[in-house]
Amino acid sequence: MAALHKRVPQHETGTELDINPLYFREKSCDIPRYRLPEHGVLPRTALQIVRDELILDGNARLNLATFVTTWMEPEAEQLMAECSPKNMIDKDEYPQTAELEHRCVNILGHLWNAPHEEAVGCSTTGSSEACMLGGMAMLWRWRAKRRTEAKDTSRPNIVMGTNVQVCWEKFCRYWDVEPRYVPVVPGRYHLGAPEAAALCDENTIGVVVILGSTMDGSYEPVAAVDTELSRLAATPGGPDVPIHVDGASGGFVAPFLQPELEWDFRIPRVVSINTSGHKYGLVYPGVGWIIWRGEEYLPQELVFKVNYLGGEMPTFALNFSRPGAQVAAQYYNFLRLGYSGYKNVQQTCQDIARHLAGEIATMGPFELLSDGSDLPVFAFKLRDDITGFSVFDVSERLRTRGWQVPAYTFPENLTDMAVMRIVVRNGFSMDLANLLLDDFRLHLKYLEKVQPMTQLPPELQHKRESFAH
Ligand SMILES: Cc1ncc(COP(=O)(O)O)c(C=O)c1O
Repeated sequence: MAALHKRVPQHETGTELDINPLYFREKSCDIPRYRLPEHGVLPRTALQIVRDELILDGNARLNLATFVTTWMEPEAEQLMAECSPKNMIDKDEYPQTAELEHRCVNILGHLWNAPHEEAVGCSTTGSSEACMLGGMAMLWRWRAKRRTEAKDTSRPNIVMGTNVQVCWEKFCRYWDVEPRYVPVVPGRYHLGAPEAAALCDENTIGVVVILGSTMDGSYEPVAAVDTELSRLAATPGGPDVPIHVDGASGGFVAPFLQPELEWDFRIPRVVSINTSGHKYGLVYPGVGWIIWRGEEYLPQELVFKVNYLGGEMPTFALNFSRPGAQVAAQYYNFLRLGYSGYKNVQQTCQDIARHLAGEIATMGPFELLSDGSDLPVFAFKLRDDITGFSVFDVSERLRTRGWQVPAYTFPENLTDMAVMRIVVRNGFSMDLANLLLDDFRLHLKYLEKVQPMTQLPPELQHKRESFAH
């Protein structure tokens, strides 16, 4: 979990780094852990010290919790290393990096069926920033419209499922927008279309529809939400509510695996779409993208013209400086893979996800919530009659060989439901999947014998650390 870090009192033990004497040519020196050292060390020494610490991090390839890319081919890594000195914001100094960003926006606009020549977009640090920009554009547009009608602008709200990723909660808190949540219910683990429309009123800036849900990988029903919102708009005095699609993962999956599914700019109410280049876009973190249907959906007050770098460049971003390497790597992937290559990668992930889901479903104690047929991601829980151990125990046991399979409880309304989730990404092979299945079977045998839950006092049985999304 991302943390806000606290200062450490200097008298505490362990405030000096303990360094292997072989790393120094001369006699070793004291290196404080939490203060800037008085003098530096040789590059190799610094490298060894940092590397030694980092071996305790989990193995990124065995991290089945993250949606974010953990493997890129050497050529891409080389390109990223070459581009790492470039700052994305210096568009005048690095005009070709800016040109690659421009091409990527066009490529994504085309993939998402954006109206010709009208769409605008940009890269971001990830989907969180992109969602923030999408939310702001809807908020500013709603406000401008209300002002022209001389109506109150003090109580904007946004409608979404309780399964939204935390970035939307941040958006609401940071911009003082009331979140209106559609609760998840047994059997519907994401946003329902009629339920979303029922929460909308004249103060609704938009509905967020996720493709697909972080909780279980399922796609929310963009077309059905569009239909319900159009029905609402057709009622006397009914509000005309736009849709933002949070395609953090699905924006790079649906165009390849479900090209017939209408979720993008083919749906009239979809005004903006975001995605993470660093998820199924197959780039290392952090790059995201957002595209608006047309310039009228991006209020001009939000766009700053930066001219002190040489040219005059319109930008809409929360950050200023950020790496250019990820954008170059995104373009590399587009060239390297093409449509068929992306389809191949995503299809391979989906085949593996569905294989894993099918096998896990037949093991006995588990029930699937999703099966990997939307995103190559699925979630599952223990059958209600399994009481001797929990999914947290399964997750813990799997850690013994390095597998990181998160267990967590569902949001409000279903907080009693604890699930596990597997995200299959590029680089996780069928062979690894079968090894994981072997370990699942092994640990289930162990847990059926040892029954850790029956040995815990009842008040502790539900107190498990939850996974942060
Ligand atoms: C649906 C959804 N939206 C937004 C985000 C935030 O994405 P990022 O990590 O690119 O900021 C995530 C991350 O998992 C997500 O799943």
